[in-house]
Amino acid sequence: MPRQPTARDPAPTDDAFVARLLPWFDGHGRHDLPWQHPRSPYRVWLSEIMLQQTQVSTVIPYFLAFLRVFPTLPDLAEASNDAVMAQWAGLGYYARARNLHAAAQRCVALHGGELPRDVEALNALPGIGRSTAAAILSQAWNDRFAILDGNVKRVLTRYHGIEGFPGLPAVEKVLWALADAHVQHVPDARLADYTQAQMDLGATVCTRSRPACVICPLQEDCVARREGRIDDLPTPKPAKALPEREATALLLRDGQGRVLLQKRPDTGIWAQLWTLPQADAGSDLQDWFDAHVDGSLDDADALPVLEHTFSHYRLHLQVLVQRVHGLRQEAPGLRWVAAADLASLGLPAPIRKLLATGAPPARPKRRTMRGAPPSPESE
Ligand code: ADE
Ligand code: SF4
Repeated sequence: MPRQPTARDPAPTDDAFVARLLPWFDGHGRHDLPWQHPRSPYRVWLSEIMLQQTQVSTVIPYFLAFLRVFPTLPDLAEASNDAVMAQWAGLGYYARARNLHAAAQRCVALHGGELPRDVEALNALPGIGRSTAAAILSQAWNDRFAILDGNVKRVLTRYHGIEGFPGLPAVEKVLWALADAHVQHVPDARLADYTQAQMDLGATVCTRSRPACVICPLQEDCVARREGRIDDLPTPKPAKALPEREATALLLRDGQGRVLLQKRPDTGIWAQLWTLPQADAGSDLQDWFDAHVDGSLDDADALPVLEHTFSHYRLHLQVLVQRVHGLRQEAPGLRWVAAADLASLGLPAPIRKLLATGAPPARPKRRTMRGAPPSPESE
């Protein structure tokens, strides 16, 4: 068993992640961010809250202006809500400002007007979670706490090849354990730098898309790089199961082999495209057919069900193929189209493909009709 490193016994050379990251930070990290000079608890806290949902370049001018108006934590606690919100205006996510103000007042009431140097007490303040508490403690006091923000999650999932959406508690638990293990190897004086180094690597090298692995200090040990899984990690949030819808469409041909197409309404899916007369399951396509078409659907052929995914649902389209005599009445938005003219009309891709492949009859004949009239309003 390898000996367990402890806070008093950092062994930087044991941990390649730490051993490579810190020298990289010295040469390539960000050292002139305003909250680094000085790294006081109040300034670090303010910067971490502002940076929670906002990028560095946007935050800097707000950070400097905020400190000019509220130079100390008690100044912030005493300010009116309006004055605080006025300084935050334009940064967005205004709950952050309300929480910051409330937390400052709590620090005056409970902690002598200062941020507590205690992870539980910090965590109990409004707007401060586990990772933000760790970022404050490590940067302001060089205390040994691991952070796990979005950047660090991305770096760790790739470096260690961790599968699973990092927002899942089970995955997050693994990542916290890895982050905690690494931080034990950081030399005492470098905990603030280590926190900043991870953020900088995630922001400038191990970026969400197209990470710059060729210049990454971790490239030799990185599992994602070694195994070609950079594009697969971190595992994306699982897609919500899409609702399923069924509809029926009619592929009707006249004596000349032309296909009956119907123009979709101006809004909804396939808006303004020409497609097969179609109806949602449950509405009465038979009635529409009887009213408009001279022919019968009794021995129509059913094609294999066509599946098409829209952003909000998955459509299962049952297409019935039939030869008919013609239309009983002309109707706006209904048109017989010869194969040669299909190219000049806008058709939804799956319908164009269906018509191009000749739509051979498959499946046994269908005699009953679930599903219904081409109601253009039904999306
Ligand atoms: N995001 C959160 N904290 C940060 C920091 N200290 N530097 C850069 N980006 C950050
Ligand atoms: Fe990220 Fe590439 Fe570095 Fe791995 S080698 S940590 S994927 S930048």
